Amino acid sequence: MKSKVNIAIDGPAGAGKSTVAKKLADKLSYVYIDTGAMYRALTWKAQREKVNYNDEEKLAELLRRMDLKLSNSSAGTNISVDAEDITSEVREPSVTNEVSYVAKHEAIRKQMVAKQQELAAGGGTVMDGRDIGTAVLPDAAVKFFLNATVDERASRRHQEQLVKGMESDLKLLKEEISLRDKLDSEREFAPLKKAPDAMEVDTTSMSIEEVVNYLYDQVRKQADVHE
Ligand code: CDP
Ligand code: CDP
Repeated sequence: MKSKVNIAIDGPAGAGKSTVAKKLADKLSYVYIDTGAMYRALTWKAQREKVNYNDEEKLAELLRRMDLKLSNSSAGTNISVDAEDITSEVREPSVTNEVSYVAKHEAIRKQMVAKQQELAAGGGTVMDGRDIGTAVLPDAAVKFFLNATVDERASRRHQEQLVKGMESDLKLLKEEISLRDKLDSEREFAPLKKAPDAMEVDTTSMSIEEVVNYLYDQVRKQADVHE
């Protein structure tokens, strides 16, 4: 019988986590769970309701009462809050550059981790984020830490924005990504960190397909996912 395990993918912004996690999940017939989307949704809601990012209790209360839904489409993760589709809004720089200030709070992370663990309870997920291997799924069958140089990650985001017809400034993107890396890895609760048992993959000079195939081979070697 085919056993369905959980796979954790962590790493800094632009390392390719969401693109690769989605493709890996499709290849394994698993469910992809984008935990960054959950923190983005709360940040968007806090902006809309003008909640101060330093007010941990108000943010926690907002998260408790909002109806957050994730669903997968061929293009990625669709996000709704209180039945309003905010899939594209949460990818705007105005949200991206503020998420780390919301995600740093312990009370927020506790609620998010509980929701994420519930989503993965039955196995068969590929979950990506910052603390999946260290805090959300410490018992995941296979853990990856994807990385790439900051220049490569900024250049990937730059290309992505140009293709979408957005204005894009490579130098500014590099500064924003570096600041987010710093905030995410230096925060007190569940910082971005490679789990000791995670496999680090430097994707700087790898194509998306190369990374997906490499991860797929590792999953087949490390976990019993054969038919
Ligand atoms: O796609 P990208 O890597 O740029 O970001 P994301 O995965 O959507 O995550 C956005 C932000 O949410 C991160 O910079 C973290 O501050 C936060 N995050 C987190 O703290 N923990 C997670 N498991 C996922 C995201
Ligand atoms: O989720 P994360 O922030 O780690 O990265 P992503 O959003 O999956 O990838 C950022 C951009 O890099 C996307 O436009 C991907 O298509 C691209 N990418 C790439 O060019 N080469 C890779 N090996 C992985 C991703």
